[in-house]
Amino acid sequence: MGYIEVTGGRVLSGCIRPAAAKNSVLPLLAAALLCGKPCTILAVPHLRDVETSLALLQAVGADAAREGENISLRPVRRICGTVPASLAGAMRGSVFYLAPLLVRAGYAELALPGGCRLGPRPIDIHLAGLTAMGAQAEVSRDQVRLNRRGALHGTEFALRLPSVGATLTLMMAGCCAAGTTVLHGAACEPEIADTAAFLNACGADITGAGTATLHIRGTGGELLGGCCHAVLPDRIAASTYAAAAAIAGGEVTVEHCPPELLAAFLDFLSSAGCTVTRKRENFTVCRHPGHPLRGGQQLVASGYPGLATDSAPLAAAVLLYADGPSEIYDGLFQNRFACAQGFAELGGGAKAEGRLLRLAGGASLHGGTVSAPDLRGGAALVLAGLGAKGTVRVSDTDHIRRGYADLAGDLARLGADCRSVTECPR
Ligand code: EPU
Repeated sequence: MGYIEVTGGRVLSGCIRPAAAKNSVLPLLAAALLCGKPCTILAVPHLRDVETSLALLQAVGADAAREGENISLRPVRRICGTVPASLAGAMRGSVFYLAPLLVRAGYAELALPGGCRLGPRPIDIHLAGLTAMGAQAEVSRDQVRLNRRGALHGTEFALRLPSVGATLTLMMAGCCAAGTTVLHGAACEPEIADTAAFLNACGADITGAGTATLHIRGTGGELLGGCCHAVLPDRIAASTYAAAAAIAGGEVTVEHCPPELLAAFLDFLSSAGCTVTRKRENFTVCRHPGHPLRGGQQLVASGYPGLATDSAPLAAAVLLYADGPSEIYDGLFQNRFACAQGFAELGGGAKAEGRLLRLAGGASLHGGTVSAPDLRGGAALVLAGLGAKGTVRVSDTDHIRRGYADLAGDLARLGADCRSVTECPR
C-alpha cells in the first residue's frame, strides 16, 4: 500500500511522451493467442493490468514473457481454456480472453469480471455475438463457460450498443471463423483500429475497424501468422498531462501523440480558456497562471470521437477550478464520478447524482488524505492536488497503477511537487 503526495502551487513546463495505450495493449496480448507464429508487442508499459495479463497468459499455457520493454509470445501447441478466478477477477480486461480461448482451446471458462466500481458491466453482447457464431454459452451467477463444436462461423451481427469490449471480442472471433463476419453498430475507439492493425499484420482480413461497420473474413479455423507491433499512444494518459497543465498553469507539450486522438478533450480545454496548439504528431497546452479557467461547461462523455468516459473525471478536476459552475454527464457508466467524494473532502464543490456530476467551480482546495476510488478517479484526485493550497495525499494507488506506470514521476518531471510514497500515511 502507498500513496501519491502532491503539493499545489507549482507551474508546469516541459515535454512528455505518453506510454503505449493500456486499452490497446490488453486486447493485443489476448489477440496474440490467435497467432501461430511469434509476435512482439513493443514498448509495453509496466502496468498492473499488463502484469495480470502476463500471469493470465502463462496460466493458460502461453509462452509469453517480457523482454526488456517489449512483450513476446511464441506459439505453443496447446492452450487451456480455463482462466484462474483470481486472475479473471483482477481486471475487466480478462473478458478479452473469451474469444481467443474459445478459438484455441475449444472452450473458455472464466469467472465473470468482478463487480466493478464504475457500475454494472454485463457481457451479454459478447455472449450474444459469440452464440450467433455457433458457440454455446452457459452462464451461472459468477462464471461463464463457452464451448464450440467445430470452427465458429461468420455471421451478420448488430451490437445493441457500441461496446468497445464486445467489438474486440467479435472481431477476434471473426478472424479465425469460417466465412465472413459483419458487425453493425460497432464501437469506433482508436484502440479497436489498433488491434485490427495488429491482427491484419498477422494475416487477418479486417476492414472498417474504427467505423461502426466491420467486415472480417475468417481463416476457417487456421491460426494467424505473427508480427512486431508498435502500439498506439495512450490518449487518456495524454489527456491527463493536458489537464495537469490546465490546472497548474504553464506549458506542457505532449509528444508522439496525434491530437486527433483526444480532439474532444482538447476542444474542452480550449473552451475552458487554455491555449491549445495542435501539430500532426504532438500538441501543446498552455495556461498563464493568472488567466482563469472558464466554467459554464456542459460536457457529455460518450463513445469515440466524443469526449472519452475515461477522461471525464480528468475534465472534472479542471472544472473544480473554473470561474463558474459546470456539469458533466457520463453516458456509459453509472458510477463514473466516485471521485466526487474525494474532491468534496478537499473542499471542492462536486456532487455526483448518478451519471451526472455537478461542479460548483471557484474551488480553493486544501490539503488532506483522500482515497482513489478507481483508476481515472484516482488520477483526477492527484490532478486536483496540483491546484490545492496544501498537500494532498491520494491513497489506494493500486487503482492508479493499473493504468499509469508512474503518474507521480511523470508530473514531477513536468515540474510538479509530486511523489509516490510506498508506506501508508499515518
Ligand atoms: N455493456 C453491456 N453489455 C456488454 C458490454 C458492455 O451492457 O456486453 C455496457 C457496459 O456495462 C457499459 C457500456 O456498455 O455501461 C460500455 O462498455 P464497453 O464494453 O464499451 O467498455 P469496456 O470494454 O468494458 C473499455 C475500457 C474502459 C473504457 C470503456 C469505454 C478496457 C479494459 N476498458 O471498457 O476503460 O472506459 O471501454 O471506452 O479496455 C479504464 O481504462 O479504466 C476503463 C474503464
